[in-house]
Amino acid sequence: MRMTVIGTGYVGTVHAACMADIGHEVLGVDIDADRIASLAAGRAPLHEKGLDALLARGVEAGRLRFSTSLAEAAAFANLHFVCVGTPQRPDSAAADLRYVDAVVEELGPHLRPGSLVVGKSTVPVGTAARIGRRLADLAPGAEVAWNPEFLREGRAVDDTMHPERLVVGVGSERAEALLRAVYRPMREAGVPVYTTDTATAELVKVASNAFLATKISFVNAMAEVCDAAGADVTVLARAMGADSRIGAQFLDPGLGFGGSCFPKDIRAFAARAEELGAGEAVAFLHEVDRINTRQRRRTVDRARALLGGAFEGRRIGVLGAAFKPGSDDVRDSPALAVAAAVQAEGGAVRVHDPQALDNARAVCPDLTYALDIPKACEGADLVLHLTQWPEYRAIDPAALAGVVRTPLILDARNCLDGRAWGAAGWAFRALGRPARSTGGAS
Ligand code: UDX
Repeated sequence: MRMTVIGTGYVGTVHAACMADIGHEVLGVDIDADRIASLAAGRAPLHEKGLDALLARGVEAGRLRFSTSLAEAAAFANLHFVCVGTPQRPDSAAADLRYVDAVVEELGPHLRPGSLVVGKSTVPVGTAARIGRRLADLAPGAEVAWNPEFLREGRAVDDTMHPERLVVGVGSERAEALLRAVYRPMREAGVPVYTTDTATAELVKVASNAFLATKISFVNAMAEVCDAAGADVTVLARAMGADSRIGAQFLDPGLGFGGSCFPKDIRAFAARAEELGAGEAVAFLHEVDRINTRQRRRTVDRARALLGGAFEGRRIGVLGAAFKPGSDDVRDSPALAVAAAVQAEGGAVRVHDPQALDNARAVCPDLTYALDIPKACEGADLVLHLTQWPEYRAIDPAALAGVVRTPLILDARNCLDGRAWGAAGWAFRALGRPARSTGGAS
């Protein structure tokens, strides 16, 4: 099948490369000419496992091409996936739909009758219907569908090739048949397809993200209660997660969520529900957001207390800058926010990350960075573990103890082996766990 993928950011690049790899003829489109030139040469503009190989294969086979022209896109195919960004608006909590709207305005007049525009971007419920009304003027005979993606950074190619489910929101049998044909290899591999109206499809995405964010904030709220009660949140979370109705995933207590999706998506969801008169139903999402940002403050407060009440004149080694392991993304990164807050209070901070240092430097140029773990921790009065990279679990605590000034570590991700660190002479502290039980981390 022939199709275009409009917007070559995270979602679009991965979708375009995967669609070409399963045999479709794909044209990727973006307004950024440099990005398009790099993609056309088979180079991915972002770091994602397996993406470079897929891109190179698609480009070489001639099934994957790139352009900056939406007029060319409309001439190339009758099926268009819209994958442009929907960031938070600068002036409110709502989603900024300017990029989606710009695509509709520019592509619309070129569309041929019978074209199908398929949204993949995460949008407020009702966006597809609104686009449909606009297209009725701009491109009579064109249709809109919504097909949200659920991919995680670091696993985006695998999540696209082997999704747990596909959701297609359509307004006609023809659109449904087209999308079923697009995803035939996935369907044949047994992936379930949920076919519905566009509003439900839009909502599946935001509701899923809201649920996952709520799960994380729930366990972090329990960590606060554990701190107050002298209980251990890691054991609590494991025992809760053993109940299959609850499930162990997304129940890791710590510094909370960041990244380009969860924080803005829950805010945009609450804002949209308010517009619809259903704000009360999701008012708890404001609390989910507050609990999440509070973990950053709690980490800074705890670190300050561990240093006797002030950061001035103290050295702090920071392990982690990315918003999660396996990614070089620092957008709304809890780790970077904590590092910056500690520095703002006068701490001499040195930050290590296995992959995100370039991006961290661009966002926080005033922080000091270290290329290896010992350099970050040299002479430190306190080590902060802020992103749960496997590299940090592999640290030899005895060796690192020889580098710092005081062997004191705060594990804000609750995944280091407290017993091993304790045995190597460290004072090991964690969020949501009393000092006496941090040996139970393994
Ligand atoms: C998320 C969704 O998982 C994905 O389906 C959606 O399409 C986009 O948003 P992503 O942002 O890549 O994906 O990251 P994810 O792996 O879901 O982690 C989100 C954040 O939650 C990270 O900051 C992570 O560190 C944090 N997290 C996750 C926790 O703090 N505790 C957990 O138990 C799980």
